Amino acid sequence: MAKRTAPIIVGNWKSTPKTLDDGVKFIKQLEKKLSSPKLKFPKKGYYIAVPEIFIPTLSPLAKHGFIGAETVHGTKLGQITGQTTPTQLKSGGAAFTIVGHSEVRARGETVEERTEKVVASLSIGFTTIFCLGEKTRDKEGKYLEELENDIKHTLSEVKRELFGELIVAYEPVWAIGAPEPATAAECFEAVIAIRRALASLGGIDYAKKVHILYGGAVTQDTVQTFLEEGGVDGLLIGRASQEVTSFIDILSASHVK
Ligand code: PGA
Repeated sequence: MAKRTAPIIVGNWKSTPKTLDDGVKFIKQLEKKLSSPKLKFPKKGYYIAVPEIFIPTLSPLAKHGFIGAETVHGTKLGQITGQTTPTQLKSGGAAFTIVGHSEVRARGETVEERTEKVVASLSIGFTTIFCLGEKTRDKEGKYLEELENDIKHTLSEVKRELFGELIVAYEPVWAIGAPEPATAAECFEAVIAIRRALASLGGIDYAKKVHILYGGAVTQDTVQTFLEEGGVDGLLIGRASQEVTSFIDILSASHVK
């Protein structure tokens, strides 16, 4: 994947839209808008994680962006009913996958499973967005330790040379699906903790370079604040990415100077 200089804006469609046709309409509308020379949109400027079954159809339509998977399931070929491996997702047109989203964690995903998914995805050079975030905050700042431990536990098995395609998304669970996002300052301090943990695994130079996103109740009104003051390189967006006009507004707010 090409070097990323513009903000990384990732939509997460979750279990929307209702049908594949609706997804096709969304991407076509988005592409039409982004093709306008007035917008000066980068060649590949958006990422959208979509329901797995939509990937092969939507991926070729996404000329200005990347279509990816919301999670990866089985990591090995074989007798695992209902599971899809990173290689299968990639061969079906996915350019990236999310791993460890809090809604997947809540369904019982274990640390071992997450590590396995991250290792298997990175091993085939699949861009992997690893999500983490605290459920609640305490006054003593133990949640920062929680974040650092999550990074260390999940990634300590990953070979350093595979770190290049890793993106980390800080998503405080209390902000996902909530009316209000975290503040830029709250995001900034969490990002420092995350970079500290990454430095302990991959060295300071690596930790400075790794792309970190913020996710949780972002709307077009908060895009610039996070990008300018939150210490992040991009955003992971749920609800506001599920409607074409609000996603275009987010992309405009993040890419157009
Ligand atoms: P939200 O979701 O933007 O709707 O809060 C974020 C996410 O789940 O990644």
